[in-house]
Amino acid sequence: MVDMGMGGSVTSVSAMHSEVGVENALLEVRGLRKEYVTGRGRLQLFDGLSFTVQKGELLAIVGASGAGKSTLLHILGALDAPTRGALYFASIPLNTLNSRQAADFRNREVGYVWQFHYLLPEFTAAENVALPLLARGEARKSAEKKALAWLAEVGLADRAEHQAGELSGGEQQRVSLARALVTEPRMLLADEPTGDLDAETADRVFSLIQRVHASHGLTSILVTHNQELAGRCDRVLRLEAGHMEEDFAKTGKPQAGLSETRVI
Ligand SMILES: Nc1ncnc2c1ncn2[C@@H]1O[C@H](COP(=O)(O)OP(=O)(O)O)[C@@H](O)[C@H]1O
Ligand SMILES: [Mg+2]
Repeated sequence: MVDMGMGGSVTSVSAMHSEVGVENALLEVRGLRKEYVTGRGRLQLFDGLSFTVQKGELLAIVGASGAGKSTLLHILGALDAPTRGALYFASIPLNTLNSRQAADFRNREVGYVWQFHYLLPEFTAAENVALPLLARGEARKSAEKKALAWLAEVGLADRAEHQAGELSGGEQQRVSLARALVTEPRMLLADEPTGDLDAETADRVFSLIQRVHASHGLTSILVTHNQELAGRCDRVLRLEAGHMEEDFAKTGKPQAGLSETRVI
């Protein structure tokens, strides 16, 4: 809410959209196709993907290397555009956003965690976490305060002034999770967030993601190779041969319309 003075207020555009959005769905994907045209011809990654991600859901996307998982995640986060199909975030049609609106959408609504943390190694953990807030024009004091609160939340209050490059792999992923969430997005997208960590550290970082997902009411989509970690999510979708299959072992029942052109 933006205070208008004199007791009046306006609701943010995204909040208004969420009020008119499809009940309980945060993300709707309809008939998604992605192809790349390269010097060696046309490469179709997937076609006819249709699925809904519910508010509060922790969804895993699995599939072989090269299946198009990262590309799909980029499209879901408005970092890339589909060749065909429609995407709605709280009823906002993402396809229709211009590049400035897409950047604003990403900054406000989406937190990203990548396999490799992409922290600035010479900057402190607190500076790295504060950066997305400074990028959107927030005052330094307020950004620092929020960064420290998030570092405490991921268990790194005592590492705030350490250079990011001096932290362990697990600590760096915790910092990148804090950086992803410091702007209070509604959706968390994570691409193999534990892929570069040893099994024990991966387990701890995954548990942390689960905890903040629940405590902040996030809607989260995780790409992972790790079947055991995928099994701890609410639902597992498998991207295979250009189509999306639900891992029925998890839920026992299929979601209708998952992949319109699915061939079994
Ligand atoms: N910009 C691009 N141009 C052409 N091909 C691409 C591009 N980006 C990715 N690809 C190809 O698309 C396929 C899927 O990539 P990716 O989405 O990274 O898969 P995954 O994350 O499942 O391993 C790969 O074969 C990759 O080489
Ligand atoms: Mg990938």
